[in-house]
Amino acid sequence: MVVFEESRRLKSLPRKYMSKQAEAIATYEKQGIDIINLGRGNPDLPTPQHIVDRLKEAVDMQSNHGYPPYNGKKSLKQAIVAFYKREYGVDLDPDTEIAIFNGSIIAVAALPQCLLNPGDTIMFPEPAFPMYYSAVKLAEAHLYGLPVKEEDGFLPDYNAIPTQIANRTKLLLLNYPNNPTGAVATSHFFAETVQFATKHNIPVFHDMAYGSIGFDGNKPLSFLQTKGAKEIGVEVYTMSKAYNMAGWRVAFAVGNPSIIAGVNRFVEHAYGNVFGAVQDAAAAALTTDQDCVRQLTVIYNQRRDTLVNGLNKIGWHVRPSAGTFFVWAKVPEGYSSEQFSALLLDKAHVAVIPGEAFGEHGAGYVRISLVSSEERLLEAVQRIKDANILKYQKV
Ligand SMILES: Cc1ncc(COP(=O)(O)O)c(C=O)c1O
Repeated sequence: MVVFEESRRLKSLPRKYMSKQAEAIATYEKQGIDIINLGRGNPDLPTPQHIVDRLKEAVDMQSNHGYPPYNGKKSLKQAIVAFYKREYGVDLDPDTEIAIFNGSIIAVAALPQCLLNPGDTIMFPEPAFPMYYSAVKLAEAHLYGLPVKEEDGFLPDYNAIPTQIANRTKLLLLNYPNNPTGAVATSHFFAETVQFATKHNIPVFHDMAYGSIGFDGNKPLSFLQTKGAKEIGVEVYTMSKAYNMAGWRVAFAVGNPSIIAGVNRFVEHAYGNVFGAVQDAAAAALTTDQDCVRQLTVIYNQRRDTLVNGLNKIGWHVRPSAGTFFVWAKVPEGYSSEQFSALLLDKAHVAVIPGEAFGEHGAGYVRISLVSSEERLLEAVQRIKDANILKYQKV
């Protein structure tokens, strides 16, 4: 069999930590060892039944059997308009301010390629969702990372950015509620973002993948609620997390018409649009009763409390996250995050993701996900206690 060489661009893509970890977990499982996997970020609960039912009806409609309309169905765009108005009080023009595609990961890959030429600079807070690093590589861009710290609420400080860097930056990528830190943005931070981006003429891409998951009764803000935001940026919202529709592959971008036009063209040329029946089901999800979304957030909130309280009780001091389905936990003193994650897997049979998987500024932390039942989370806490590894022992 001939083995063909990968392109330079493909070779430059980082290996995903999760796939390496999946291999390690499979090795344990082959030996009959039960691993509690708190590394994955795949929602564990089903899509609400009324959305599944809508898909079943829509599959039977012949109008959905051909190519879907370029740039998405009008009915889904109208649902998105209604959703943004109802949830955030934001007005959108369905013809010029909305793009629909197969999951927000498409927007992450596409937006830098729509707005940057090779060698241009992109900025985002670090640690970050690993796909952002891949997006930089796909666009053959340079990354200027904005390291964030726990004491600043994991929000970047725009004053620390040299003017010449800001002036040559072609995209600012933000993500709040944030994966992996679980931080949420404040209205003050979003106002500063608009000010900074406007001053330096930088388009803003706000990835709001966890927009529905805010804890302790706090609803995460939409970037577009900020005065001037729609002039300078777009927000990407996915059906994956809010409605447990990760497998359905549907998301949308809203905001600045010139960016939306670029994304629409990119999607048209590279992917084609989302299956019409999936668009119909997404429209139903956005416009019918939102009880399922509220209930899901309550479940994640309870799981967060169970995990964080449990870990604190056994002596691992962990800060509760403000949103997302992750807890970003500082590793006990003496350990690196890689060492501690390896030990958790080996001695407690609990898988988490070491912070460095989200870039070097993730060092000293691990990401623990809440997409497992409370019973499994409690069992994980018990196993960690029994493994007796929280106090660093030199070997
Ligand atoms: C920050 C962030 N953005 C985007 C995505 C991808 O979401 P989608 O399912 O819409 O492609 C994820 C998924 O884990 C994520 O964590």
